Amino acid sequence: MIHPAGRIKHVEYAIREIDALARELERKGRRVIRLNIGDPVAYDFQPPQTLKLSLTEAVEKGYNSYSPSEGIWELREAIAERERKVNGVDVEAEDVLVTTGVSEAISMLMAALVEEGDEILMPSPCYPVYVPYVKLYGGVAKFYRLGEDSGRWVILDDVSKLVTPRTKAVFIVNPHNPTGAVLSGREIQELVEAATSVGACIVSDEIYDSLVFDCCFSSTASVAKDAPVIGLNGFSKRWLATGWRLGYMYFSSPRGELDEVKEAVVKLARMRLCPPTPIQKAAELALRKGEGFLEDLRREFKRRRDFFVSLLQDFQGLALTPPRAAFYAYPRLTVKGDWGNDFGFAKMLLIEEGVAVVHGSGFYDYQDNRLRVVFLPPGDIIEDAVQRMRRFIARHALAGL
Ligand SMILES: Cc1ncc(COP(=O)(O)O)c(C=O)c1O
Repeated sequence: MIHPAGRIKHVEYAIREIDALARELERKGRRVIRLNIGDPVAYDFQPPQTLKLSLTEAVEKGYNSYSPSEGIWELREAIAERERKVNGVDVEAEDVLVTTGVSEAISMLMAALVEEGDEILMPSPCYPVYVPYVKLYGGVAKFYRLGEDSGRWVILDDVSKLVTPRTKAVFIVNPHNPTGAVLSGREIQELVEAATSVGACIVSDEIYDSLVFDCCFSSTASVAKDAPVIGLNGFSKRWLATGWRLGYMYFSSPRGELDEVKEAVVKLARMRLCPPTPIQKAAELALRKGEGFLEDLRREFKRRRDFFVSLLQDFQGLALTPPRAAFYAYPRLTVKGDWGNDFGFAKMLLIEEGVAVVHGSGFYDYQDNRLRVVFLPPGDIIEDAVQRMRRFIARHALAGL
């Protein structure tokens, strides 16, 4: 037997368990209504025409070789311009590194940043890939809690009390997966102050920055112009190009605190040669033509969000604080049932009613009574799914509804 490296025991991805079960049922011929995939293209959305045509153009023009490891220069310029214009972040092309999705940016960043015993402060619940990476490199995952207060998601903890001299980085996911929360400028400021008070940097994942419905989004690097901020963003969500695998990171640190980390990330980037060149060129060509399509997209996502929220309005057993961004809702179970915890609920719901949602504890939630539901499917499908959930809860609730 060849044994894998011991550190792999830290790699877990709980939300895939529900997906595996859904696949098994589908293989057996069952219809599954999937409310578990954070991918608009898996529903009825496709990338904008400008992006699709730009790919043909890139290939025809000969952008088919390796590119520099940091990414095509003109794309880095176009991204920097976009971040300056849209988010008010003072970055130049040389601060930008193109990656194969935000996922690769996270992977390289964790490898470059986290050492044995380093503490990384993250939100709970949290986009789940962050935590196993911290553990993989011997770091310690610590959490600040998000919770509901008067119809809004807010940070519950005094974050200044959660940082220590061992804190290497404070992670922000804004807008937030899985809750759809959007942080206020004051909350971002508090996170930044907590990080800088102990000499830590801030990593801000802003992949849903353009998918905000009814409030304003502030980019961390624009709120904290003097702090060392690494911004993560990409084309998967707002350009509806999840399968294209294109993302980027930028380093904003006017006093140069991030210079060595950036150098380390570039070294790692060289080891994987480059992100796909035609995809990079297509993104540059499309970015230059603008992101005008976003207004319609946001309107359509908002319409689907509003419909889902209306379906849950008088739902006995589930309470929802409406998401203000992205395409996730994160309702709370308000009754106990013979499903046990959230994972039991998700499994039984899938088996009995053919509806796939993800249990909150898969997102490192500090509680075990929440579900993540993707509200992207067309109206008749989402209505059917909610009806099935209603039926399921009525059948299994222990306390009277
Ligand atoms: C918060 C967050 N960051 C990063 C990613 C991964 O993005 P990419 O497709 O660019 O790898 C996701 C995907 O769902 C996400 O929700």
